[in-house]
Amino acid sequence: MVDAAGATTAAPLLELRDVSRRFGALRVVDRLSLQVARGEALGVIGPNGAGKTTLMNLIAGDIPVNSGQVVFDGRDVTALAPQERCRVGIARSYQVPHPFVGLTVYENVLVGAVFGADLSEQAARPHVAQVLERTGLAPKADRVAGALPLLDRKRLELARALATQPRLLLLDEIAGGLTDQEVQELLTTIREIRASGVTIIWIEHIVHALLAVVDRLVALDFGRKVTEGDPQAVMNDPAVREIYMGIDAAEELVP
Ligand SMILES: Nc1ncnc2c1ncn2[C@@H]1O[C@H](COP(=O)(O)OP(=O)(O)O)[C@@H](O)[C@H]1O
Ligand SMILES: [Mg+2]
Repeated sequence: MVDAAGATTAAPLLELRDVSRRFGALRVVDRLSLQVARGEALGVIGPNGAGKTTLMNLIAGDIPVNSGQVVFDGRDVTALAPQERCRVGIARSYQVPHPFVGLTVYENVLVGAVFGADLSEQAARPHVAQVLERTGLAPKADRVAGALPLLDRKRLELARALATQPRLLLLDEIAGGLTDQEVQELLTTIREIRASGVTIIWIEHIVHALLAVVDRLVALDFGRKVTEGDPQAVMNDPAVREIYMGIDAAEELVP
């Protein structure tokens, strides 16, 4: 890409072009366009039902778009299945963790590495060990996933996503339900992942956690972009304050 001054600028890692998704008559994502730069950490906020999780589903390929395009690293991935998008470097965590409950932590991460990153079991082992270390799960590698407390289940969501060696990591309310101390621990991990060069899109209601990491914020409502830009400017935007008025996250808006 060449800008107006003739300088070469890096193409975005992810681009949504006029993406829409309906459920019946409900327009859940409505002609949304968005660019995410390589190495950027983008935060997404918006009230319940704004279409945030659906947006992640559309990026990860868990549900198809009705119209528009999803372009990843210059390639149109709109028609690719989730596992194919995973192979090109898109990984996600789910708002409601869903590990293989009968497998151990280690086995859950191994599955991600073997199927997501396309590694042999042999080649995956050192990578799995590194992911467990990074997410603080190494001491719990042999625990059965179904018996983990919430923080560890959230960490496992992160670990399973990282196991696929993503270039783009999608985090859906990963800090929800955690104590302040647990959120701080998670923040340290997310900052490290970010520092390793992974591009991040993070949906979160706990705005102070988001603001500690992201470079830019997008506010959504009714599947549309309300505003985007500098995180503090977005939080101070009257339209954003209006949307949040009266809901639980309101106190988060006032530092
Ligand atoms: N699979 C689905 N079928 C029907 N409606 C859905 C489906 N998924 C989401 N919705 C509806 O779409 C809207 C946006 O949901 P969602 O993307 O989960 O919002 P958010 O994550 O911002 O809270 C909600 O009204 C929700 O009920
Ligand atoms: Mg959601």
